[in-house]
Amino acid sequence: MASVSRCRCCLLSLVLLAFAFFSSTGVKDSGFTLDKLEDEFLSGLSNNTISKFLKELTLEPHVAGTAEDLATAKYVFDHFEASGIVAHYSDYSVLLSYPIRRSLSLHLPDGSLKDFTLKEEAVEGDPYSTNPKVIPTFFAYSPSGTISSEVVYVNYGREEDFLTLKDEGVNVTGTVVIARIGKIFRGDIAANAAAAGAAAAITYSDPFDYAGNGSQGYYPSSQWLPPSGVQRGSLFLTNGDPLTPGWPSVPDAERLEISQVQFPKIPVLPVSAQDALPILEALTGKVAPQEWQGGLQLSSYRLGRGPAKVKLSYEGNLTMAPIRNVIGMITGSEEPDRYILLGNHRDAWTFGAADPNSGTACLLEIARGFGNLLSLGWRPRRTIIFCSWDAEEFGLIGSSEWVERNLNLLASRAVAYLNVDSAVGGPNFDGRATPQLDNILLEVTKKVKDPNSVYGTVYEAWSALNGHGTPNIGRLGSGSDFSAFLHHAGIPSCDIRYQTLYPMYHSLYDDYNWMERFGDPMFHRHVAVSGIWGLLAIHLAGDAVLSFNYANYADELEVIFDNLLQASENITANPLFPAISKLRAAAAQLGAEMIQMKIFWLHQVLTDAQTLSKLRSLNDRMLLAERSFLDPSGLTGTSWYKHVIYGPSGKNHYNSQLFPGVCDALAAAMSINNKASWNALQHEIWKVARAITNVAHFLSGELH
Ligand SMILES: *[C@@H]1O[C@H](CO)[C@@H](O)[C@H](O)[C@H]1NC(C)=O
Ligand SMILES: *[C@@H]1O[C@H](CO)[C@@H](O)[C@H](O)[C@H]1NC(C)=O
Ligand SMILES: *[C@@H]1O[C@H](CO)[C@@H](O)[C@H](O)[C@H]1NC(C)=O
Ligand SMILES: *[C@@H]1O[C@H](CO)[C@@H](O)[C@H](O)[C@H]1NC(C)=O
Ligand SMILES: *[C@@H]1O[C@H](CO)[C@@H](O)[C@H](O)[C@H]1NC(C)=O
Repeated sequence: MASVSRCRCCLLSLVLLAFAFFSSTGVKDSGFTLDKLEDEFLSGLSNNTISKFLKELTLEPHVAGTAEDLATAKYVFDHFEASGIVAHYSDYSVLLSYPIRRSLSLHLPDGSLKDFTLKEEAVEGDPYSTNPKVIPTFFAYSPSGTISSEVVYVNYGREEDFLTLKDEGVNVTGTVVIARIGKIFRGDIAANAAAAGAAAAITYSDPFDYAGNGSQGYYPSSQWLPPSGVQRGSLFLTNGDPLTPGWPSVPDAERLEISQVQFPKIPVLPVSAQDALPILEALTGKVAPQEWQGGLQLSSYRLGRGPAKVKLSYEGNLTMAPIRNVIGMITGSEEPDRYILLGNHRDAWTFGAADPNSGTACLLEIARGFGNLLSLGWRPRRTIIFCSWDAEEFGLIGSSEWVERNLNLLASRAVAYLNVDSAVGGPNFDGRATPQLDNILLEVTKKVKDPNSVYGTVYEAWSALNGHGTPNIGRLGSGSDFSAFLHHAGIPSCDIRYQTLYPMYHSLYDDYNWMERFGDPMFHRHVAVSGIWGLLAIHLAGDAVLSFNYANYADELEVIFDNLLQASENITANPLFPAISKLRAAAAQLGAEMIQMKIFWLHQVLTDAQTLSKLRSLNDRMLLAERSFLDPSGLTGTSWYKHVIYGPSGKNHYNSQLFPGVCDALAAAMSINNKASWNALQHEIWKVARAITNVAHFLSGELH
């Protein structure tokens, strides 16, 4: 504990100096001041090159495992190399799933029949929409099968929606349920439907959720999803190649038998609003609750069951396919074995103009910008790694396999993982991060211009969304490539984008034409994402002393536990409070040490090997502390997820669940309500308390 008192002594005298170095840490070795470096980078970004990258990447549909997708890998590889960034491929062979045959027909009580074409229609003025290579609408990993049964409307297909049906006395056993998509991950809809006893499921995009309720027209006359638009996707609930759970799918790897894998249990088919309309129109039964009424032209949405029946037939396959990540590296000058990773996936369900290649275009623009800085003599202190992932759409496969393959190197060397999936799908900035990165994320948004030209900076625009207070930083659920880094490997992560609702998500119309007309007409939002993403990398790779803030983590944990405390008289949250206090104290001590180190560094008080070693050790405590939130045995039931603070919600894999283990145990205890179930919950609380204590202990850097 000696270091604590020493720091307290020097703290006061150093605080006054503290302001001086925030704008000048760490880049003096390369001949740039930080300000100059930031200006050089930001002023070099161009909406014109970004739009050119996006156009070239999205000429053809490029689903993972296809030749067109491999061509985009080469495009990215060549661009890295041309920018002076050393690149390599990282290939895997994984189990993907494609559609072979689909059909759907509606059978009315009067004996009439309607066959659906299941086709998204070409729209005028959009040549992309006539491309015959676009993959038919389907859900990857849906089982094959033919089901003929009565229909029940299940709203968003959430657990609570099925409970409502039960309360209403609507029997869904053996039916084909129809759910609107948009509130939870489609794989969860499939799982809920199967659990409720449905024989098959249909999802559709209601105009309420994807088309401004149909009152403002549709693409191409407005930004909204046309009535024939369909959202494709994967139903798989776990991450990575289904046949190699937890280990990399290299050529000679052990692989499970297909029969050992838990695939979705019932056939599921996505359809358009246009095709859903006659099905919903044909339902009788009770009028659905007000919150269940959508935006289709119906007198009212009714629950069913039936009397209308549908016949749904789906045949898909499971195919071993090659996938290809592209990895580009700028080796650090001082600490080449410390990594800042920028990642984005490249594979798309259709053209991918928003999802994900708006992000790829930004990644390429940053590579171009960093290439320019390199040619001016810049060398980042630490190594910057550009990652272009494949097969994200099937289940975050490329990134998960890569993390599994490099797990211990990443666990010992990665500083942070910075993800961008769809960089632009709408007008508002949105940032999510692990809490120790909150401050640096906020700081860089103050340096980037508001692309919508309403406010001065992205920070001001972002803050305006939260009543001009501190912007609301989200937390990381699942649904994109940060998951392996954060939930499996315990690496501090963030994810940024411009969006709110993205109506074209996974449809035929996610193309350059839509982006240029509605998503980002001047590509200035792309420039803003490139600026923020690039500045994060410049800071994390260049700052001699990292600026991680663990006090934010302590604040966050405290708030959450207030909620838990009210959960039950049968458990106690008491173990958590000393743990959080320790984290708070360790964070404060670390903050003082950071200030001291920054001043030493600025004034070159000591540049001997001893100081360098102290600097390194201080940074290591910050960047490695996150790993102590991992439980080596993983979360109960889903052992791949090891982070005890953040995980995907069991009810919705898109959402972040705080304390996933505690929440699951709480839900179980509430429903089982016996001693063993409450004990299990108490055990989960202890587990979290131990993890927080471990983080505090690690941050302090002292043996006990
Ligand atoms: C629901 O329907 C199934 C199949 O039609 C039937 O076997 C079951 O008994 C029904 N359940 C209830 C509660 O009515
Ligand atoms: C559709 O209308 C509802 C209720 O008026 C509104 O809450 C919802 O945001 C609208 N949807 C869109 C996409 O504008
Ligand atoms: C699976 O289906 C796709 C698309 O129809 C086809 O290209 C592929 O060859 C099929 N794979 C197998 C193993 O049947
Ligand atoms: C880039 O921005 C400039 C200035 O706002 C604009 O004139 C130009 O059209 C934009 N380029 C593209 C491709 O949108
Ligand atoms: C506590 O557990 C008992 C059974 O073990 C149960 O009857 C009671 O409802 C529980 N209390 C709360 C608040 O859940």
